[in-house]
Formats: sequence, C-alpha cells, structure tokens
Amino acid sequence: MNTVIEFKDIKKAYGQQTIVEHFNLTIERGQFVTIIGSSGCGKTTILKMINGLIAPDEGTVYVEGKDIKNEDLIALRRNIGYSIQGSVLFPHMTVEKNIAYVPELLNKDDKARTRAAVEKWMKIVGLDPQMLKRFPDELSGGQQQRVGIARSLAASPDILLMDEPFGAVDEITRVQLQEELRKIYEQTGITILFVTHDISEALKLGTKVLVMDKGQIQQFAEPTALLRYPATDFVRQLVAKERRTCGLPEEKLLTCEYCGVMNHEH
Ligand SMILES: Nc1ncnc2c1ncn2[C@@H]1O[C@H](COP(=O)(O)OP(=O)(O)OP(=O)(O)O)[C@@H](O)[C@H]1O
Ligand SMILES: [Mg+2]
Repeated sequence: MNTVIEFKDIKKAYGQQTIVEHFNLTIERGQFVTIIGSSGCGKTTILKMINGLIAPDEGTVYVEGKDIKNEDLIALRRNIGYSIQGSVLFPHMTVEKNIAYVPELLNKDDKARTRAAVEKWMKIVGLDPQMLKRFPDELSGGQQQRVGIARSLAASPDILLMDEPFGAVDEITRVQLQEELRKIYEQTGITILFVTHDISEALKLGTKVLVMDKGQIQQFAEPTALLRYPATDFVRQLVAKERRTCGLPEEKLLTCEYCGVMNHEH
C-alpha cells in the first residue's frame, strides 16, 4: 500500500488545553476516510494540519512522504482541495469566479482551460449552467455547498479535505450530494478526508472510518469492522443505532450484498 498522509506523534495544545497528543495515523492513497467524533474533539484541527493551516506543537505531518514543515505551503495547498466547515464562498464573486479561483491561479493565461474546468465541475456536482453569473447570496444553501465542492475540486487535487460539507442541507440534497461525491471519488481515485457528525453518512461513504473522542483515536477501520467489532464503548454507542436499524442478524452484516452494512430493507 501507498501512504499519502502520515501523522507521527502529533501534539497540539491551546494554552493549558491539550487538543491532541500522541496522535498517529497513516492514510493510504485512494482511501475515502470519514472522520466522526464529539464536537471539539479535534477533527478540524487534524484536517488543517494536513494543508499546514495549523502547525503541530510536536511531531511531524508527512504528505506524499515529505515533512510539510519543509515544504512550500502554497504549492502544497494546490494539490489539496479544501472545503471548509460552513461553506464559505467569496460573496463578492459569481459562481463562475468562485469555482475558477484556483484554476485561474494555476492556468494563469489559459482562459479556455479554466472555463472548461468550471463547466466540467458544475456539471459533475449537478449545478445548472444558468447559475454561472449568480452570486452566492442568490443561491440556496444546497447550491452553495455544491459550488463549494466544485471549487475545492476544480484544481484537480490529489487529496480532498472536506469539513462537514453537507452540514446545512436537507436530507434529499444530502443524499444527492453523497452520490455525486461517491461518483467523483470512484472516477478520480482521489484521496478524501471527510468530517461528518452523521454516523450513517460516515459508514455509507467511507472506505475507512476514523472515530475520535477527546483527541484520541477510538478506532480506524472499515465500516463493517466498526459495526461488527467496535473497539471501545464510545464506538459501540456510536454505531448502536446503525446496528439496530439494519435489522439483520449480526453474522449477516458483512455479507449484505447491497450495502454491506446498514439502513436497508430486505
Ligand atoms: N485558535 C484556537 N484557540 C483556542 N482553542 C481552539 C482554537 N481552535 C480550536 N480550539 C479548540 O480546540 C478544540 C478542537 O477544535 P476543533 O475545531 O478541531 O474541533 P472539532 O472536532 O472540529 O469540533 P466540531 O465538531 O464542533 O467542528 C476545541 O475545544 C476548540 O475550542
Ligand atoms: Mg470542526
């Protein structure tokens, strides 16, 4: 397996408050890692350490085998799409300009290439081309989130960090966005780290799920393993609802041919 991100003995504190300590994690290329845990447990902090927005107090973060302390952070971020918590678009820019922001930086004079990138990503996330000239406040919350996702993908990054990207949308839009993201993931082979508060979403989308509590990793495993072999009481409680709604006896959980795990009716 091919490691793309590695945290090695990370510590981060704010004043007296230690957020994470002895944090070790290795992420293989092409994984879709969903991250779930109690509010304030350090999920956003971990994500921001990957693109250098937050520096650890101790330990090393490696991206593509390189200690990011020694890397040019601007160059690093070009390869790492980031969709931040609470979809923040540039309010004074149209949809087109928002999505084109990074491609414009990269392609500079090649306007046709940028335009093609914008059109491609609008289509992939399911946004009508009519919306190109609109401003963020002329869009619904779900549409804004789609623009945010298109923007984070438009530079064709190898790694995509998504911090609760579907937080503020209704259930129908959420399911559509989940399906679109899964398609993007399958088509591009990108490595995704996706923070969510929703355990069904974490189990549905992730090839691996990282469960955190109080800055500690509770479990990092495939969804089926989480359901069958919860490593701690915290994980057991987290997945309890999913195990119940499944309705299948435990020995069938691994063998469900439809979704592998949860929320299905047979
Ligand atoms: N700049 C800062 N100064 C002081 N404390 C901070 C700072 N940034 C974050 N924290 C604290 O660090 C802890 C972890 O924050 P983080 O944003 O990583 O949590 P989270 O797991 O993403 O939570 P949520 O699910 O609510 O988004 C929290 O207790 C938060 O209050
Ligand atoms: Mg957060």
